[in-house]
Amino acid sequence: MSKPALLSVRNLSVRFPLKGRDEHGKRKTLLAVDNVSFDIPEGKTLGIVGESGSGKTTAALAVARLVEKEAGQIILDGHDFGALTGDELRIARQNVQIIFQDPYSSLNPRLRAEDIVREPLRHAGQTSRQEQDKIIDELFHAVGLRPEQKRLFPHQFSGGQRQRIGIARALAPRPSIVICDEPVSALDVAVQAQILNLLKSLQKQFNLTYLFISHDLGVIQHMCDEIAVMYMGQVVERANRNSFFKQQKHPYSNALLSAVPSIELHAEHIRRQDISGAPPDLTVPQTGCRFAGRCPLAQKACHLSVPVLLPENASHQAACHLLTD
Ligand SMILES: Nc1ncnc2c1ncn2[C@@H]1O[C@H](COP(=O)(O)OP(=O)(O)OP(=O)(O)O)[C@@H](O)[C@H]1O
Ligand code: SF4
Ligand SMILES: [Mg+2]
Repeated sequence: MSKPALLSVRNLSVRFPLKGRDEHGKRKTLLAVDNVSFDIPEGKTLGIVGESGSGKTTAALAVARLVEKEAGQIILDGHDFGALTGDELRIARQNVQIIFQDPYSSLNPRLRAEDIVREPLRHAGQTSRQEQDKIIDELFHAVGLRPEQKRLFPHQFSGGQRQRIGIARALAPRPSIVICDEPVSALDVAVQAQILNLLKSLQKQFNLTYLFISHDLGVIQHMCDEIAVMYMGQVVERANRNSFFKQQKHPYSNALLSAVPSIELHAEHIRRQDISGAPPDLTVPQTGCRFAGRCPLAQKACHLSVPVLLPENASHQAACHLLTD
């Protein structure tokens, strides 16, 4: 029997209130995450890939309870993490940490590196200063920073070194889930591989489970066991890495891969194709497939009803009307 998921997200939706009203006088809203479900087994990496604005960060922030969800369940290690409040939430939140994209803006410039890593421990209030010092020493070593660098301020580090501090900070509370939100996209290409390899070795060392967000399919292919493709708030395809890179089932995934010349397209049915056209307006309810306005295969039915992920319970699913016929 396969292991139960460490993180299980069911039917997650996030809606942001916007300024202004629609023609019926109702407050405008934007449905940034729409009915998203996924599981991540312990010690594994789920990659979420999709264009800018597809809702990757919002979904991750909702999982971490940093933005409010409109609906859905977030089950972490068998507990209903999505329903916790108050002190229970504050304590449980330590289990879900985030490594942010921009190592320049995500570190407090007034704190020394060691105090940046200490912050989440201090906030949780469950360790003595001495215990914190020990954890900081271990983490500096684990992320490849030298002990004497503990006393330096963020501006005294390179981009890659800053991201190492960000990683140490995320690992300090001993989380079980780490959300990596585009952790290398602000870094030089030469440094990207070092940080990705560091994340992989830390995953083994600390038995971490990653939710890994990227718009770079090369990075996703390198890092992830499972892949979920998001388009305009919805998961349109999910599969394990081998199955996904062997044969994408959704026209949007196909177009995403087409845009990456360095990735070999194995499946014969795939031709490189362009995704021109504008995505839909998420402030109004959608009646059909959200990709219909850009999809080269769109038919009349695609504008009439929203496709769901199929086949049910299969390890490789896609939400496209063509696949249901
Ligand atoms: N606080 C907010 N208020 C209103 N709308 C928001 C807010 N945060 C995000 N959005 C909108 O939600 C949608 C999803 O944004 P999100 O940042 O999650 O996308 P993303 O996939 O992470 O994109 P990127 O690749 O650019 O980081 C976008 O349309 C965005 O403008
Ligand atoms: S449902 Fe229709 S529009 Fe949507 S991806 Fe499939 S073929 Fe394209
Ligand atoms: Mg984002």
